[in-house]
Amino acid sequence: MIERTLVLLKPDAIQRGLSGEILLRLERAGLKIIGMKMLKASEDVAKKHYSDKLIPIVGAKTKKDWDAAGVKSDQTIEQIGTTIVASLRKMLMNHALVAVCLEGVSAVENVRKIVGPTGCKDAAPGTIRGDFGHCSLGYASIRKKNIANLIHASGNKEEADFEVKLWFTQEELFTYKSVHEDYTMHMIDW
Ligand code: CDP
Ligand code: MG
Repeated sequence: MIERTLVLLKPDAIQRGLSGEILLRLERAGLKIIGMKMLKASEDVAKKHYSDKLIPIVGAKTKKDWDAAGVKSDQTIEQIGTTIVASLRKMLMNHALVAVCLEGVSAVENVRKIVGPTGCKDAAPGTIRGDFGHCSLGYASIRKKNIANLIHASGNKEEADFEVKLWFTQEELFTYKSVHEDYTMHMIDW
């Protein structure tokens, strides 16, 4: 049940000075930082992280928002998705971000819960995306941009395994016991 997951503090989070605030929320839940570094992505990493498989997914999410807001467009889901994925890759390559590997019980699901859904507009207060943004996917996409939603978190176990290996080498990941691990993971001997 102990999992590793990848988080990226995206350039908008760094430029808004929110990296500490975001890390605090993850750390205080007892999730353990086992790797962390600031960098810009290479083209290879950017393309593997936001692969072509994402094109129909982000295209469909935009279309759903546009339909709900009554936005008319003759672009196909594929065309919309291609524009957004290109914008995402540019973001990762051109601006400093912080990559973090977290470890904990059901870490993938737990981190996603703290992060909230993709569009800040749809994210509940208390989540990172809900507390620090309000923009919708649809509004950002009209401007041919990906939404500035502060943070990336692996979506499932398979994605997490792939992404942790993509962003970190074995040597960049650390094993140690945190002081509050016993309590947040209910391992204490009373
Ligand atoms: O990040 P998350 O797993 O919640 O969403 P995703 O569907 O995997 O999409 C990856 C990223 O694409 C999102 O975090 C957004 O930054 C961006 N995106 C966007 O800008 N506009 C959309 N319509 C959909 C996604
Ligand atoms: Mg995702």
